[in-house]
Amino acid sequence: MLPAIEVKQVCKRYGSLRALTDIDLEIHTGEFFALLGPNGAGKTTLISIIAGLSLANSGSVKVMGHNVITQYPQARLNLGVVPQELVYDPFFTVREVLLIQSGYYGIKGNTRWVDEIIERLDLTDKADANMRALSGGMKRRVLVAQALVHKPPVIILDEPTAGVDVELRQTLWDFIKQLNQDGHTVVLTTHYLEEAETLCNRVAMLKDGKIIALDSMQNLIGKMTSGNSVRLRLSPDCLPSALHELQISHDGGICELRIENYAQIEFILTTLRSENVQILEMHLQQPDLEDVFVNLMRNGRKQAK
Ligand SMILES: Nc1ncnc2c1ncn2[C@@H]1O[C@H](COP(=O)(O)OP(=O)(O)OP(=O)(O)O)[C@@H](O)[C@H]1O
Ligand SMILES: [Mg+2]
Repeated sequence: MLPAIEVKQVCKRYGSLRALTDIDLEIHTGEFFALLGPNGAGKTTLISIIAGLSLANSGSVKVMGHNVITQYPQARLNLGVVPQELVYDPFFTVREVLLIQSGYYGIKGNTRWVDEIIERLDLTDKADANMRALSGGMKRRVLVAQALVHKPPVIILDEPTAGVDVELRQTLWDFIKQLNQDGHTVVLTTHYLEEAETLCNRVAMLKDGKIIALDSMQNLIGKMTSGNSVRLRLSPDCLPSALHELQISHDGGICELRIENYAQIEFILTTLRSENVQILEMHLQQPDLEDVFVNLMRNGRKQAK
């Protein structure tokens, strides 16, 4: 099947800084894809190149089969980008901005879809307000709306929830999830890792302009962490020898034991009881994307496949 986005051997330099090095990435049609990495990793640079707004020093990019440089108009029609930076024209109202944006794509009479986006992004009350009169979070909603006026099959959101309140985050995600279910490919950049973990099926991790991990969310979390564990505070603070082989650490009165399956908890509890060791505290630890992120950024091992 035609990839939604195809990035081949992309390099980008700013003077002596290598912002992107040999990026190869295929994002499949219909995916909900996370592009993650710390500040300065190169996410926005890559997005600008995919959007045809910035030129790579080498390599090529296609959106729905269209080269973003040589077939710019076609590529652009297939893509909607929500930029990280808040850029807006203060003199127009929200509805005007969206209708003008439709005009850029040659779409006339887009009122019905524009009104629908306005409603879905909870902007109805502000539809006739000037852009400069909106709060930061509201301006960000307009940026999301602007990226969607031409119903692009591929949508890239560069930190769409930065500075957005909890309620709107929920509204926004419901809308984006709906678009993804309707067949739109979605690429998301965010520093809220739990959002990426719940929403996205596949992840690329960037560090210093290189892809250091590329896998399904499930595989990545499974492969890059030590698995589930249980943390116990015991009285007396002494682990029975039968449990020693499960022990990961024993620090400051907290004993952490590895568990491969939940049935092992029963074994742990029975062993402690038979040795008259009392449990004062117990926490189940399940690895998440944040653990993966921290591990990867610490040692940056190449795991791409
Ligand atoms: N126009 C530019 N001129 C010079 N250097 C730039 C320019 N744009 C980006 N950079 C540099 O390229 C690197 C990648 O920046 P980029 O904005 O892509 O990071 P990012 O992953 O989006 O980070 P963040 O999470 O902070 O948004 C950084 O070191 C940045 O300083
Ligand atoms: Mg960025």
